[in-house]
Amino acid sequence: MSTKVGIIGAGGMASFHIGGFRTGGAEVVAIADTNPAAAKKAAARFEIPKSYSDAAAMLSAHPEIDAVSVILPNKFHKPVAIQALQAGKHVFCEKPPALHAAEVVEMKSAAEAAGKTLMFNFNNRARPDSQAVMDYIRDGSVGQINSAQAKWCRRAGIPGFGGWFTNKALSGGGPLIDLLHMVDLAFYFMGCPEPEFVLARTFDDFITDKTFKGPWGIPDVADGVTDVESAAHGLVKFRTGQVLTFQASWAEMIKREEVSVVFQGRKAGGSVQRLFGRDGLDDTAIDTAEIYSQEHGRPVNRSLVVEPDPAMGRERSAANFIHTIEGTAAPLNTPDQALSLMKIIDAAYESSTTGKPVAIA
Ligand SMILES: NC(=O)c1ccc[n+]([C@@H]2O[C@H](COP(=O)([O-])OP(=O)(O)OC[C@H]3O[C@@H](n4cnc5c(N)ncnc54)[C@H](O)[C@@H]3O)[C@@H](O)[C@H]2O)c1
Repeated sequence: MSTKVGIIGAGGMASFHIGGFRTGGAEVVAIADTNPAAAKKAAARFEIPKSYSDAAAMLSAHPEIDAVSVILPNKFHKPVAIQALQAGKHVFCEKPPALHAAEVVEMKSAAEAAGKTLMFNFNNRARPDSQAVMDYIRDGSVGQINSAQAKWCRRAGIPGFGGWFTNKALSGGGPLIDLLHMVDLAFYFMGCPEPEFVLARTFDDFITDKTFKGPWGIPDVADGVTDVESAAHGLVKFRTGQVLTFQASWAEMIKREEVSVVFQGRKAGGSVQRLFGRDGLDDTAIDTAEIYSQEHGRPVNRSLVVEPDPAMGRERSAANFIHTIEGTAAPLNTPDQALSLMKIIDAAYESSTTGKPVAIA
């Protein structure tokens, strides 16, 4: 019998979850959104039999649901994920895991108490190019990764003004928390080591300048709040001695949008990189995945040729969740890894406020 899934949140990301769950062999039985029109519209578009304006109503009407997706503004990740775990459902939650590390601790405890799987949508781990590079990391060709550089920077990519993305109480912050994907991917490549301290600085230039609006995102809210950063730069030192530098921006003077992780290992280096044609539009994007080594005294650069994945792993990641709960695949991420990542993000914001490196307990 196929795994039955309920979707909570009918916004921009729902289509990837629904597609990925179906590819993974699951059945999507219902969708809930506090905006009933959005829930109905998505139900019709994706041929989902039932829609609800309340997650609790969906959960009580469908005891057959095994798992839910939480695809909501970040503030609602923790309460809704815990509500579903307490109802005995496995949970696949969008990134960032929550607003703060302390919330992830609560979510992890709820999953443990319920004996259910909790995973997060770190979809960039699921990309074919990331997995191709991982093959060289797993087989020992790269050796310990000493250092990595993670970037998701946009020149003009503010996802709307005054909506939930730019309201710190609803989002937890700007690009540092929103575009944490590349910090996560570098952390994954590095073997998810324990972070020791973070030194970081955020900047808020251009955050209210409408000429820096991205070509996608959510509608502006005229009287809404815009109180997050526009860019963040920092360094993470891990207890292993490994170091990671990062750059995340929605608005910054760079040539073009870049999404990349570059790393230097003891035996080989490598990179996964996407250079966008224009911010947020990937029709002319250049994707590369490479391994750099020294062979017979010469530098060798290998280009890994993989199938293109315009969804950037989003559907593969959702399918991995289904296969994980069915016991046919290993999870692409764990709550402990999500917790370490959120500790890095918390420490980066704190470091920016104090102007000092912040130790992670
Ligand atoms: N993995 C990725 O690549 C990626 C990309 C974009 C967004 N996201 C994440 O996905 C999440 C949702 O983003 P989005 O772009 O779909 O947002 P969105 O604003 O398009 O959609 C959010 C939906 O949630 C509904 N909603 C709000 N509160 C609710 C509640 N308590 N219960 C039920 N429904 C509620 C809203 O009515 C809206 O329809 C965010 O956490 C975001 O960070 C991930």
